[in-house]
Amino acid sequence: MPDDPVRNPKDIVREGYDRISYSYRDDAGTASDRYEEWLAQLTPLLEDGDPVLDIGCGCGVPATKLLAQRFLVTGVDLSAVQVERARRLVPAARFLCEDITLVGFEEHSFSAIVCLFTLIHIPLDEQPAIIRKLGLWLRPGGYLLATVGTKAWTGIDENWHGAPMYWSHTERQTYLRWLEESGFKVLWDRFIPEGTGGHTLVLARSATESVSI
Ligand SMILES: C[S@@+](CC[C@H](N)C(=O)[O-])C[C@H]1O[C@@H](n2cnc3c(N)ncnc32)[C@H](O)[C@@H]1O
Repeated sequence: MPDDPVRNPKDIVREGYDRISYSYRDDAGTASDRYEEWLAQLTPLLEDGDPVLDIGCGCGVPATKLLAQRFLVTGVDLSAVQVERARRLVPAARFLCEDITLVGFEEHSFSAIVCLFTLIHIPLDEQPAIIRKLGLWLRPGGYLLATVGTKAWTGIDENWHGAPMYWSHTERQTYLRWLEESGFKVLWDRFIPEGTGGHTLVLARSATESVSI
């Protein structure tokens, strides 16, 4: 293959998670005990059997698996290895191996959307459009539980869990503005520390009336 100095961010992320899937998360979902508490902020707001979308579901544990205990879950992930594992580990959910920026769902398809540690792998200039689409895919008054950035940074770590990985995010305030501009009401947000930095966890509610984009 010819050397290509301009690497496509989506290829870096896809190939990265294909390679590091198991070192990032084992089949038991170990080292992810915070998920239960985060999802507990959302699940009491939903009815049993509600349709829920998990964007960047990874290998399905623990988040998709926890959600699938009560809801009809659709997981979407870019990485074929992650999706193959998710299908095995969470047989109760359905999974699509797709780039979320290219997927289409009917308007008002979901009661809730969960997007944990995924938006930050998508080039920043694509993120406002995805946030607007999430607002359309949710039924009016549906909920979004997402992690977004805290500080602005775009770049590549050449050795993250053993493979190159790409991130792109901006500061918390911009995400909150993008959400509000897309018709969401931000119910709360909080800082989630990780290493020397961290993320912003947000719970937002979609407009109770349809918003056009
Ligand atoms: C850090 S992992 C998080 C997995 C899971 N949400 C969790 O918190 O355990 C990020 C996941 O997002 C997926 N991802 C990144 N960009 C994506 C995109 N454009 N479309 C779909 N999935 C994507 C990656 O393949 C990876 O599995």
